[in-house]
Amino acid sequence: MGFTLDTSHIRSLFPSLRQEVDGIPAVFLDNPGGTQVSQGVIDAMSNYLARHNANRGGAFWTARCSDEIIDEAHQAMADLLNAASPDEIVFGPNMTTLTFSVSRAIGRQIGPGDEIIVTRLDHDANITPWVMMAEDRGATVRWVDFDPETYMLDLPGLRNLINERTRVVAVGYASNAVGTINDVKSVCGWARDAGALSFVDAVQYVPHGPVDVQDLGCDMLACSAYKFFGPHMGILYGRYDLLDRLQAYKVRPAKNVPPGKFETGTQSHEGIAGTLASVEYLAEVGRRYGGQYRAGFDQFDGRKLDLRSGMTAIEQHELQLSAAVLDELETIPDIEIHGITDRDCLDQRVPTISFTWPGRHPRAIAEALGNQGIFVWDGNYYALAVTERLGLEDKGGMVRIGAVHYNTLDEIGRLGVALRNLI
Ligand SMILES: Cc1ncc(COP(=O)(O)O)c(C=O)c1O
Repeated sequence: MGFTLDTSHIRSLFPSLRQEVDGIPAVFLDNPGGTQVSQGVIDAMSNYLARHNANRGGAFWTARCSDEIIDEAHQAMADLLNAASPDEIVFGPNMTTLTFSVSRAIGRQIGPGDEIIVTRLDHDANITPWVMMAEDRGATVRWVDFDPETYMLDLPGLRNLINERTRVVAVGYASNAVGTINDVKSVCGWARDAGALSFVDAVQYVPHGPVDVQDLGCDMLACSAYKFFGPHMGILYGRYDLLDRLQAYKVRPAKNVPPGKFETGTQSHEGIAGTLASVEYLAEVGRRYGGQYRAGFDQFDGRKLDLRSGMTAIEQHELQLSAAVLDELETIPDIEIHGITDRDCLDQRVPTISFTWPGRHPRAIAEALGNQGIFVWDGNYYALAVTERLGLEDKGGMVRIGAVHYNTLDEIGRLGVALRNLI
């Protein structure tokens, strides 16, 4: 199978990818920590600041421009996630802050005897906000484990934990540590059947595949623009009737209607303009490279169709990157890969691949790669429950190779050479 994307064209749109470190082209494999942005995103942000900078709701031109851009950004995010309405999209500083905020609002309806479900496969941003809310409200937290051999979430265990006392099920779409994609659609269905709310952390899934909140049947879903080629912003989807019903922590003059009641204070308007441009970028990927995938989304049209076909082209490209990273890692004696390696199951993971190398500290490996112009993360990447469960927290965690659609097989080859140089 050939590549579905022309990476040289894609890469030409990202100025940062042309950078060199000490004369060596930089290889960005730190993407789960944050992706690079296209020139279109940079232009949208600087254009906003240069021409349209104002607060909202004023009776003058720049205020009207700001309103228009921000409204359009809500619509763009609704298209990306297939929300039924732009009023179901809440912007905020990042996923963590939005999750703390909305978990407080949900907590107002929770008390002793109620139960909250969290998983050990999640980033701490989808664990601690719920644990602290449960502490505040006297509710009980139930933990779902993952299998440290297969790196799969214990879905039967999760299902068994859901009962008539369950109020919230918080689950990750894709793990930022080991890359596993979870069957969140089933989880949301089980939560709904029990009358519980489902909250999906999609931060690590959105850059890798098409998302459809209506098909998932989730009540809320959070993501971060800086993980999908945009600026440092967080986005929360919430079903309109739920956002409407919840009592937000907000100041009095702000209107008490979604989404504004959760968008407290003045937002990063330039960040919202950049987020809009990042969605436009992904739609353009669909227009250029998504042709063969459009038939699979015939219920959609316009930008929603472009986004779904584009994200499917990205997904297909990334299957080959996952295989290439695994192939390279498997040439290194003793390396232990922490995640799915079965080539027939690569559709159950994103190309975020963590490993340990006995006798070598993860930081030392990341430093050695960094010295060769290859950027990777080491540590727990805030997936503390994962490194604790794997017994790696006091050993420096893992090294994480995180590819996205602008990475090439040549870059993965360079990673392999650099690792073999360390032997
Ligand atoms: C899976 C996952 N959830 C949540 C977060 C936190 O996102 P933010 O930095 O937008 O708060 C991250 C960040 O790495 C993540 O990978």
